[in-house]
Amino acid sequence: MRMDNFAGHNLHLETARLRLRPFEEADFDLAVPFYQDPDFLTAMEVDPPDEPVTSDYLKGAARAMAEQGFLFAIVEKASGRTIGETCLQWMNLKRGEVPGEKVMRMPIGIWDKSLWGRGYGKEAVRCLMAYAFEELRIDRFCPMDVRTGNARSAALWRSLGLTVAREVDGGKVLDFEITREDYGRMG
Ligand SMILES: CC(C)(COP(=O)(O)OP(=O)(O)OC[C@H]1O[C@@H](n2cnc3c(N)ncnc32)[C@H](O)[C@@H]1OP(=O)(O)O)[C@@H](O)C(=O)NCCC(=O)NCCS
Repeated sequence: MRMDNFAGHNLHLETARLRLRPFEEADFDLAVPFYQDPDFLTAMEVDPPDEPVTSDYLKGAARAMAEQGFLFAIVEKASGRTIGETCLQWMNLKRGEVPGEKVMRMPIGIWDKSLWGRGYGKEAVRCLMAYAFEELRIDRFCPMDVRTGNARSAALWRSLGLTVAREVDGGKVLDFEITREDYGRMG
């Protein structure tokens, strides 16, 4: 394994237009400028910090994700650019646990706004859902903490067959889910 493999796994996945590779130390500096954009920051963080986001801040959050699953950088094949981050992460919130089930959640961010709405998010998630259900044999896939006003994110999950599992925090955020059974029905 490479020394700069921050993610601690060696899983490489590929879609038509994207490569998903282990997140590396060097990727944090690429990510930081995008977190200065309030739209991106508030979409990614339910409780954004008061201070501007730094590489160390992102590293702290990412370290926990790396320990709890598969942290990826999203690379656009055509340009070779690293354009975002995602994590196939074992459920770490009590409210998302289901006794006897293997449950995963999935934070995702395409950093550059100009790349939103081109199907990249869906392409990455579809690939990771397939990996999670078919290879890791999970029972339930549950993206958590989607801000109620985040239409793009909600549309992404709905377009992949997920439904709202619960409203949290007085309706401030939504948790989505899809079961293995419903995933199988999608064909
Ligand atoms: C959320 C995010 C990952 C979605 O990825 P994306 O590449 O922009 O989305 P896609 O182009 O794959 O679109 C997915 C679906 O949402 C729909 N959609 C896209 N933008 C939309 C919008 N502004 N309003 C409503 N629907 C929208 C698409 O039509 C598509 O559905 P379809 O396949 O049925 O047509 C991306 O926009 C992003 O990183 N946003 C900022 C961070 C964020 O919100 N992360 C999620 C936190 S919970």
